[in-house]
Amino acid sequence: MILLNERFLERDEVTIDIEDRGYQFGDGVYEVIRIYNGACFAMDAHIERLRRSAEQIEMILPYTLTELEENLLKLVEKNNIKTGIIYVQVTRGAAPRAHHFPEGSSSVLVAYVQSLDRPLTKIRNGVKVTLTEDIRWKRCDIKSLNLLGSVLAKQKAKNKGFEEAILHRDEVITEGSSTNVFIIKDQAIYTHPANNLILNGITRNKVLKIAREKKFQVVEEPFTIKELLNADEIFITSTTIEITPVIEIDQTVIAGGQPGPVTCILQKEFDKLL
Ligand code: PDD
Repeated sequence: MILLNERFLERDEVTIDIEDRGYQFGDGVYEVIRIYNGACFAMDAHIERLRRSAEQIEMILPYTLTELEENLLKLVEKNNIKTGIIYVQVTRGAAPRAHHFPEGSSSVLVAYVQSLDRPLTKIRNGVKVTLTEDIRWKRCDIKSLNLLGSVLAKQKAKNKGFEEAILHRDEVITEGSSTNVFIIKDQAIYTHPANNLILNGITRNKVLKIAREKKFQVVEEPFTIKELLNADEIFITSTTIEITPVIEIDQTVIAGGQPGPVTCILQKEFDKLL
């Protein structure tokens, strides 16, 4: 079953207007929430980020956050999903095509769930990635439906047979096409600060909390391509791939081609939260 605003419908009953602004302009925001064992992981943080994303694009959500949370929980229950994800998006709704905000349109919320196993092989063995220029706009903190910059970067990685594209603006590493990036050097953990150039990942924040609890030095400062390639360990994080070690960047082997020890400690602690 699909959630369309406040209604639960079968997929073939759902209709989206051809003038929906999400469809025509990418004028909307979204979230991806993990379901483990039939329960939603970090639901409050995702709802809060959706609220913030909507606020940043001056879009009013169709109903309250409490109602949204209740409806998403109902959606998971109705679909009887054990391990998977919720995809939820809200657009500025349908109106005759014009770039500026329409008067009197109502936002449209669509949410559905999908079974998705934990990518345990990648989490355990690590993945290969490529480096590519960050061509996205300067409001990457908004989880907007405009994903072309990420789509093109991810395809570059896929063409090389790699899992992810790590993005850089000039010499500075920002994040992955759909992940946050961390490096470890001399036991300290570095990641880009949560400003307009990255999405402030929910998994990122869980990792930072764990790292501080485990008394690692945490440095939320930009680092360079050179520092990335010279890191002792690298990992990427997201709702879907959790904490995944990076073992190779283009031709450079990282941590001897194995998940590094600090990464493994963080993974073990993260698993305890699930
Ligand atoms: N992507 N950075 C970007 C650009 C992302 O798209 C994502 C998530 C992240 C990680 O955020 P989080 O830990 O909150 O999932 C970082 C989701 C999963 C997606 O678009 O499918």
